[in-house]
Amino acid sequence: MAARLRVAVLYGGQSGEHDVSVLSAQSVMAHLDTSRYEVAPIYITRDGRWPIPLEQLRAFDVVFPVLHGPMGEDGTVQGLLTLLGVPFVGAGVTGSAVGMDKAIFKDVMRAHGLPVPPSIVVRRHEWLHHPEAVQARALREIGLPCFVKPACLGSSIGVSKVKTQDAFSAAMDEAFRWDRKVLIERAVPKARELEVSVLGNDTLRASVVGEIIPSREFYDYAAKYLDSGERASRLLIPAPLPEAVADWVRTLALHAAEATEARGMARVDFLVDGERGEVFISEINTIPGFTPISMYPKLWEASGVPYAELLNTLIALALER
Ligand SMILES: Nc1ncnc2c1ncn2[C@@H]1O[C@H](COP(=O)(O)OP(=O)(O)O)[C@@H](O)[C@H]1O
Ligand SMILES: [Mg+2]
Repeated sequence: MAARLRVAVLYGGQSGEHDVSVLSAQSVMAHLDTSRYEVAPIYITRDGRWPIPLEQLRAFDVVFPVLHGPMGEDGTVQGLLTLLGVPFVGAGVTGSAVGMDKAIFKDVMRAHGLPVPPSIVVRRHEWLHHPEAVQARALREIGLPCFVKPACLGSSIGVSKVKTQDAFSAAMDEAFRWDRKVLIERAVPKARELEVSVLGNDTLRASVVGEIIPSREFYDYAAKYLDSGERASRLLIPAPLPEAVADWVRTLALHAAEATEARGMARVDFLVDGERGEVFISEINTIPGFTPISMYPKLWEASGVPYAELLNTLIALALER
């Protein structure tokens, strides 16, 4: 038997998405072909302790960071691995950092003429010192209903839909529990939620389009991870869309990934105005969920790339770079 590649799977980590990372990593490790890979689980604790000295990461042929959110998906771990000279799966420092920061991501989209909902950015100190002015500006420039979200997180943690002026303040406080920077974004009416998986280094490929039917008013944490069985959110793969719309969404996904340097892998999420059909890019995830029911692997499965083969491709892309 040829020597197996030594693959380190990084998971857990310091972000609010620790638990999701554990589920994703369990699934990745269960699907990695053990005849090809010698897999080492590397669990990072919630307070950021690693089970091995960082320099020992050099002993691996490739590292697969399955970390969601800050301190893992945001370029920090990618910077460490770049310094150590170890090939790793997914986007590099720039793509990871831009993808993590929803405010900067949206600025990059706008600079490329790519469609995103109107939004404004508020810093914690502005909110603490001038709450009335912030609220007045949000109502004037964004209006209600709006979404309030921490700039750098995921899994809908800290995200609120604000429908009345009375609810604004609590939503801001909640978002600022998680980040010093908050995005206030116009709600896309009757939003349909679409997602596309992207794969590749120099030439990116887009999967079929998937749709999420959230079990709640919007795709919040409970709708993502807690509701199960009859109550669970549903995935429609492929999304029921006219072919021209699906093609447009896939094209936008590729542009979004290109514009943000999201190489290796990315999942690009969309919101479609349910009344007017307008398509908006919502966000990019450079380390998307990898649980057995996660959209990223499911979209590839539906596009003819089974889970284990997807992992082989991701590792090959890491080594190629
Ligand atoms: N502008 C918006 N219009 C409609 N729904 C939104 C909007 N922004 C966020 N949402 C809802 O909130 C969810 C989480 O927001 P998102 O920006 O995707 O953050 P996260 O990174 O936490 O997933 C979305 O999946 C969607 O259901
Ligand atoms: Mg999202």
